[in-house]
Order: sequence, then structure tokens, then C-alpha cells
Amino acid sequence: MPRLENRKILVTGGASGIGRATCELFAREGAAVAVIDRDAARIGTARAIAADVSDPASVARAVRQAAQVLGGLDGLVNAAGVFINRGLMETTTDEWNTTIAVNLTGTFLCVQTAVPFLRQADRATVVNIASGVGLLPTGGGSTAYVASKGGVIAMTRTLAAELAPAIRVNAVCPGAVETPMTDGTLRDAAGAVIPAIVQRYALGRPAAPEEIAAAILFLTAHESSFVTGISLPVDGGRTYH
Ligand SMILES: NC(=O)c1ccc[n+]([C@@H]2O[C@H](COP(=O)([O-])OP(=O)(O)OC[C@H]3O[C@@H](n4cnc5c(N)ncnc54)[C@H](O)[C@@H]3O)[C@@H](O)[C@H]2O)c1
Repeated sequence: MPRLENRKILVTGGASGIGRATCELFAREGAAVAVIDRDAARIGTARAIAADVSDPASVARAVRQAAQVLGGLDGLVNAAGVFINRGLMETTTDEWNTTIAVNLTGTFLCVQTAVPFLRQADRATVVNIASGVGLLPTGGGSTAYVASKGGVIAMTRTLAAELAPAIRVNAVCPGAVETPMTDGTLRDAAGAVIPAIVQRYALGRPAAPEEIAAAILFLTAHESSFVTGISLPVDGGRTYH
């Protein structure tokens, strides 16, 4: 039996990478899926809604439209995000503000706007895509990104308490994943994964987006019914390596 039969799920960032793999997997598992993405035109169906998750008016319109198109909302996956690879002294205030606005405020806005719809559902779920860099020592750098993901992890815990028992809220913390976000940073010119990256992972490789989608599926499906407030590392063993 499909694990998300008749479930109505909204995925932000569903036009690319982890969000896109999640939409494809969820559809195979029987869900009706709507997408919010600033590049929604790339998908081009009525269930793909162009919006900026960092803009409150845009989110309000898009979440309402998604709930209307799907006939309600049972679940939300927050996968929209941006990465900036700059340390403290190189980060401009604009770069800081944009990163926090998309990754942290965007997650806040989408959950806040979806909650009235999720409260009408049975067994509702939220899954936030944080990052291993929000959990672990990073070695420095990517200041705004790390701060945004640490914020998502802390917010996940407090939202799980605030929204229980009606809505379960969890996060997934991926290690390095091969998506457009990491194009040009994971592999060298010859196409080999950069050794310094491989060495961080017990499994010796970055993830495919489908491997992250599988964890998001677990936290969205009823099989995780007693799990809320966690931030699940899906990181090829980096945490314990
Ligand atoms: N790729 C990795 O190694 C990795 C590791 C850990 C965490 N993550 C997180 O996973 C999530 C997905 O990343 P990905 O690797 O699939 O990246 P990606 O760049 O392939 O996809 C991100 C998607 O988010 C959308 N998006 C960006 N800003 C937006 C905005 N303001 N409003 C609406 N949509 C917006 C983009 O259009 C894109 O479709 C992100 O939150 C990222 O931080 C990625």
C-alpha cells in the first residue's frame, strides 16, 4: 500500500534538488503534491505556484492557493533554501539578511501560514530541511547559512511542542548532497569528489537527493507517528565519523 495514499502535501523548493526528489517520491507513494518555488515555472503545472518564501504576502497567497488546489493540506515540507559560502568577515549585511530571510524566516512564514489548514487535517506533519552544519562543528565559514540552519533546528523543537499533538514537526539534517546548490563545490574539474569532502563521511561519498527524500518520507508518513521535535542527521555517518 502506498505510504502517503490520499495525503495532500505542500513542498517548498520543489523545483530542484532535494525538494524535487521529494515531490517525485511522494507522488509515487500516492500523495497529491503542490509546490511553492520562486522557479515554479520550471515545473509548469497548476500545482506549481511561483512565490518567494521570504515574502509574507507571497507566502499567504501561495499557501492559500496550494490548499485550494489540493482541497486541504495534510503536510508541509520546507525545502526552499539558499547557500552562501562566506565566512564572517566576507559576509555583507545584505547576504546575511537574504540567507536568514529565505532559510529561517521563510520556514517560519510557511509553517505559520499552513497551520490553520494543517489543524483541519488528521495526523498533520511538517518537515523542515535544516543541515548537518546546524548540528555539528563546521570548521568555520558559511556564517549566515550555518546560523540560519541552527535556527531551523531550534525552531523545529519549539514548534513540535507548540503544535502537538495535532501536528508533528521534525527536521532532516543532510550532509553534502549532489544538487544544483552544491554544483561546483563537491567535485573537481575532472569530476572526482573533492577528497576533503569524502573524508568527512564514513560512507565516503555525498548523498543523492533521493536518499534525503527517503528520510523526509519517513517523517511525513504515519510510520513515524511517535516522532516529533527531532533533527535527523542523514549524513553518511559524518556525525560519528
Ligand atoms: N545540497 C546540499 O548539500 C544540502 C545539504 C544540507 C542541507 N541542504 C538544504 O536542503 C534544501 C534544498 O537544497 P537543494 O540542495 O535541493 O538546493 P537547490 O538549489 O537544488 O533547490 C533549492 C530550491 O529552493 C528554491 N528557492 C530558493 N530560494 C527561494 C525563495 N526565496 N522562495 C521560493 N523558493 C526558493 C530554488 O528555486 C530551488 O528550486 C535547502 O534548504 C538546503 O539548504 C542542502
